[in-house]
Amino acid sequence: MNILVINGPNLNMLGIREPNIYGRTTYAVLCALIEDHAEKIGVDVELYQSNHEGDLVDHIQKAYNRIDGIVINPGAYTHTSVAILDALKAVSIPAVEVHVSEVDKREEFRQISYVRLACFATITGHGVNGYLEAMDLLRERNAG
Ligand code: DQA
Repeated sequence: MNILVINGPNLNMLGIREPNIYGRTTYAVLCALIEDHAEKIGVDVELYQSNHEGDLVDHIQKAYNRIDGIVINPGAYTHTSVAILDALKAVSIPAVEVHVSEVDKREEFRQISYVRLACFATITGHGVNGYLEAMDLLRERNAG
C-alpha cells in the first residue's frame, strides 16, 4: 500500500510557529515519525509539503492511479479551498483530514472545512500523532 501525506502552508514551520497551539515537534521530526510509522505498519509513504495551493492540487492529481490513501492537512487552505476539495474528489482516493490543533474549538472561520467533504475521516487536536492515526485508518480501510 502507498500512502501520500500532504501538508499545506506553514506546516513546514511546525515546532517554530505558535508552539502553544501546534506544539514543539518540528516538520523534520514529524517526517521521521511518519516514516518510522510507515515501516512499522508495513506501508510505503511519500511526504509532500507546499505553501502554494496550485502545487497541492498538482500533487493530488499526480497521485491518481498511483497512491492508495491520502493523509492531508491543508493548513489554512482547509477553510478556503474548493480547488483542493475538487482535486481530492477528482482522484477519488480514500483520504483522511488531519489538523494538529483542535480547529473546531478555535476561531469560527477555522470551523469550516471544504476538504472534509472529500475525506472519510477527520482527526483534530491530537497533535502530530493525528498523522499516524490517519495512516492506521487508511491501512485498516485498505485491508478491508
Ligand atoms: C491547521 C489548522 C489551520 O486552521 C491552520 O491554518 C494551520 C494548521 C492545524 O493543523 O491545526 O495552518 O491545519
